[in-house]
Amino acid sequence: MNSPVAIVPGCLYWPGWLDREGQEALAEELRHVLAEAPLFTPLMPRTGKPFSVRMSNCGPLGWVSDVGGYRYQETHPETGRPWPPFPPMLSRAWEELAGRAPAPEACLINWYGPQARMGLHQDRDEEEFSAPVLSLSLGDTALFRIGGTTRSDPTRSLRLASGDALLLSGPARLAFHGIDRLYPGTSTLLKQPGRINLTLRRVRQAGAGEIRP
Ligand code: SIN
Ligand code: MN
Repeated sequence: MNSPVAIVPGCLYWPGWLDREGQEALAEELRHVLAEAPLFTPLMPRTGKPFSVRMSNCGPLGWVSDVGGYRYQETHPETGRPWPPFPPMLSRAWEELAGRAPAPEACLINWYGPQARMGLHQDRDEEEFSAPVLSLSLGDTALFRIGGTTRSDPTRSLRLASGDALLLSGPARLAFHGIDRLYPGTSTLLKQPGRINLTLRRVRQAGAGEIRP
């Protein structure tokens, strides 16, 4: 495995972490996950305005947003069924890239159509911030932006391409980040133009026996 590039302290980047064959295998695993837990359109808390991305989850917990707020829950908001388990490649990605962190509990699946974007935000609905957030990208390239822990901090931009991995850890765990735009047509991986981003997170605080040696 190549050494990662530090984009800002704690934000580690592995360009091309998955080769084409690996990307195809992960996309296939995700097709099964999404057949069981279909994409839904989340709504902004209070205003009820729809997000431009569609979402689903796998793992014991899933992140959802609706007029009631942001939260993690054990079931899909539309089907009422438990989220499907992590497919094997996601568990392996965490093993390989997240170091000694306790096991992940949620993987948010974001589907970006060509016009979708995601405003600058922090991932802070978890109880455990010592574990990193691991991001994997598939499909069209996107312009990712990352700053500091205050919204007004200066930001850097980076193009995330299919197969890239990125870790928000340590001082970058609570960094503001978002997606400014997609570059449609930059990947032939998916059956339609767009991008999938996966973010694996630890949600609850780990029990003492759970931290890996
Ligand atoms: C996210 O912050 O949930 C997604 C980031 C990305 O799409 O790269
Ligand atoms: Mn995020």
